Amino acid sequence: MSTVIGHDIKAAAEILRAGELVAIPTETVYGLAGNALNEDAVIKIFKAKERPFFDPLIAHTYSIDQIRKYVTEIPARLLPLMERYMPGPLTVLLPRQNIIPDIVTSGLERAAFRIPQHEVAQELLRSIDFPLAAPSANPFGYISPTTAQHVYAQMRDKVPYILDGGECRVGIESTIVGMEGDTIMVYRLGGLALEEIQALAGEVQVAASSSSDPSAPGMLTSHYAPRKPLVIGDIPTLIRQYQGKKIAVISFAESYDVPYQYILSLGGSIDEAAKRLFAAMREMDATDADVIIAKDLPEGGLGRAVNDRLKRASHPL
Ligand code: TXA
Ligand code: MG
Repeated sequence: MSTVIGHDIKAAAEILRAGELVAIPTETVYGLAGNALNEDAVIKIFKAKERPFFDPLIAHTYSIDQIRKYVTEIPARLLPLMERYMPGPLTVLLPRQNIIPDIVTSGLERAAFRIPQHEVAQELLRSIDFPLAAPSANPFGYISPTTAQHVYAQMRDKVPYILDGGECRVGIESTIVGMEGDTIMVYRLGGLALEEIQALAGEVQVAASSSSDPSAPGMLTSHYAPRKPLVIGDIPTLIRQYQGKKIAVISFAESYDVPYQYILSLGGSIDEAAKRLFAAMREMDATDADVIIAKDLPEGGLGRAVNDRLKRASHPL
């Protein structure tokens, strides 16, 4: 299969209607999309990513009214969040109707829904009459793509068409929420900051497996990871510790005397750092450095999600 990169939304819709896959831009990361109501198309997504079938997919659509077609109810506490942040970097888990196939949710009762804000994704979703199942468009376990070129580098020959929507504006995957009893749970920290959710919905609980506290060690080495070892800590200390090795540094705003470095935001903006984090990991992974060194960001805003991704990307050495 040869892969084409282009801007043709009509062609992309045609490929999706035929049950094939298209990589699509969203404001968080690029997704590998197929018709969520077509089991064969969804199987192709798992195969192309080499993703285990027990890891469910997010269904993408263009409006809350569309979501209502696929769920049995929308909990009242989630509605204000949905109305404010859909479209946006928010994913909600909702009890599904049977029209959403088991393969999309790995058999779970709740399905994940997201409304991307990216105008290309919006136009594409409005031109088809089915939701799109779409995980991030990377091989399972690798770093999520934030440009069409990132997708091409990893998924070439696995997807017929990559719809190019430029660089992702948010750059980190959506925040995933759902209800457990009366509690709003945050299952994955992401592109919508915890503070924004709390301001609208009150107290929430962050599920252990996606908190920035490394209490789910199984997840830490297998997700969002570059191939090189990545170590997090105080950068000058680590540079001394790895003396004699070729070092690549990912820093927030500071500059160091090392063979390779990627400064996330010269102006010290956390949002800019989040937007550039995955490109930084990819670029440093592509050097001949022996080790990548990085430091946590301040925890506020998207800093929490960035730190979560850094932690998951870090290898125990
Ligand atoms: O920003 C994003 O969310 C991107 C763009 C493309 O929309 N998508 C994305 O998908 O990051 P993926 O598959 O790489 O990550 C989705 C996460 C997975 O960890 C999956 O386990 C979880 O969402 N998930 C999906 N459906 C679920 C469900 N029904 N119940 C619990 N977790 C679910
Ligand atoms: Mg992913």
